[in-house]
Amino acid sequence: MYDDRIRCAALREKITSAEEAARLVNDGMRVGASGFTRAGDAKAVPIALAKRAREANEPLRITLMTGASLGHDVDRVLTEAGVLARRLPFQVDATLRQAINRGEVMFIDQHLSETVEMLRANQLGKLDLAIIEAAAITETGGIVPTTSVGNSASFAILAERVIVEINLAQPLALEGLHDIWIPGHRPHRDPLPIVRPQDRVGQTAIEIPPSKIAAIVLTNTPDSSSTVLPADEETAQIAGHLIEFLQHEVARGRMPAALPPLQAGIGTIANAVLSGFVSSPFEALTIYSEVLQDSTFDLLDEGKVTFASGASITLSAARQKQVFGELERYRDRLVLRPQEVSNHPEVIRRLGLIALNTALECDIYGNVNSTHVGGTHMMNGIGGSGDFARNASCAIFATKSVAKGGRISSIVPMVPHCDHNEHDVDIIVTEQGLADLRGLAPRERAQLIIRNCAHPLYRDLLLDYYREALRGGGQTPHQLNQAFAWHLRLAGSGSMLPDGFGAVPAAEARRA
Ligand code: COA
Repeated sequence: MYDDRIRCAALREKITSAEEAARLVNDGMRVGASGFTRAGDAKAVPIALAKRAREANEPLRITLMTGASLGHDVDRVLTEAGVLARRLPFQVDATLRQAINRGEVMFIDQHLSETVEMLRANQLGKLDLAIIEAAAITETGGIVPTTSVGNSASFAILAERVIVEINLAQPLALEGLHDIWIPGHRPHRDPLPIVRPQDRVGQTAIEIPPSKIAAIVLTNTPDSSSTVLPADEETAQIAGHLIEFLQHEVARGRMPAALPPLQAGIGTIANAVLSGFVSSPFEALTIYSEVLQDSTFDLLDEGKVTFASGASITLSAARQKQVFGELERYRDRLVLRPQEVSNHPEVIRRLGLIALNTALECDIYGNVNSTHVGGTHMMNGIGGSGDFARNASCAIFATKSVAKGGRISSIVPMVPHCDHNEHDVDIIVTEQGLADLRGLAPRERAQLIIRNCAHPLYRDLLLDYYREALRGGGQTPHQLNQAFAWHLRLAGSGSMLPDGFGAVPAAEARRA
């Protein structure tokens, strides 16, 4: 039985139920689980663990590390069962988000390239257990990941014991898609030898001593499909501004005709904007990114992208069926890597990536808040956006100019939380237009951002703020007593607009 899925015969006797495997988890453990943006997550053992915690009379609280977000409501179920004491490095779950914002779960919002780097350096304590979804186990006990590599490889290598979930719903054809390369220990580490997105430098499975595999659980559940929304008028406008900008870059000889490799962040906006490249004049594009969403496969299908490198594949339900049903069509044009490689500063800098990530809000000087609503409440986390933005040759942040039907301006006087500071942000683009901030001083940036990116509803208010700020002087002028007045107004009245100042346009109000 399962000869093709568990090719190391001796390991077949480790097959057990999710409930039995979950007994390997003890209170206070540090557990690393596979999963990156809903792809390739451990699906059965965490749910069995939550059940055990609900039924147990003793405390069962753990630190859970993953690649990024999980599917199948795993974070919700674990949160409701009270299992999560500490969670890192990323999440997108509404229930967990609320528990984080109530202070019940300690959330470490971390650059995605850094988690296993810190584990390897023993800065986060030892990893007790890894729970890794696999398509197969090889003859030598190597773990073949499924739709994500994420942090799985280093979790399996660094953990004392490993539980493998063999997911029969994941196609065996995934084998060969992965490129597992693990950095050595610092300070005598070799360079990471990737010089083109398509370079393969590692192995196709995660090699660990088979004796570390403590249990194997069989599952048969596909990944949760992605929840991103389709492109709309505003995301099409954002894509239009960006493509026009990139055409100018090529015309001025600052970028090659096929552009440097592209990275695009998670979410509706980045996915929709990347899809906009389908109707662009660009050809022979490459992608060196983290999560490969529907847009990557739109571009591969159109022949616009010749190769895509990522850490996970997260697709809508329809795309999931199509892509995994005919993986052979894409096999030569795809690779999945550990996230510490997909997001590695050395490679991002070497390849000179164009990095496209999303902001919740930006301020008039180009500082970006991607994570904290109102400056205090966690949304999802910084994810890989910082890995890419700081090291890219062109760091772009996109946002719609208003949110919540116009009650929130995404361009504000001062961001109340800063994930990406002005030194890391080259371009801000909204549906209103694009601000190229490169080589500009803060006073020049402010005028450009307000003029090109702010929504007309808020433009004069921003100009008033800026003009008044200029009276106090400074390299980066502000009115400190007014800098957060917009956020305070939003918290008080539900809108950043002052009383009686303009009205939310009907079309936007409908979308609220
Ligand atoms: N204040 C409050 N809420 C805001 C907001 C603001 N300034 N701007 C947007 N929002 C809300 C939207 O209204 C929407 O709410 P809803 O879910 O209730 O409809 C939600 O945030 C998502 O915004 P949307 O405009 O649909 O964009 P998105 O799906 O592209 O997500 C981020 C935007 C910033 C939340 C998302 O990209 C993110 O988490 N980024 C950080 C991590 C990252 O960049 N990773 C990239 C590499 S992995």
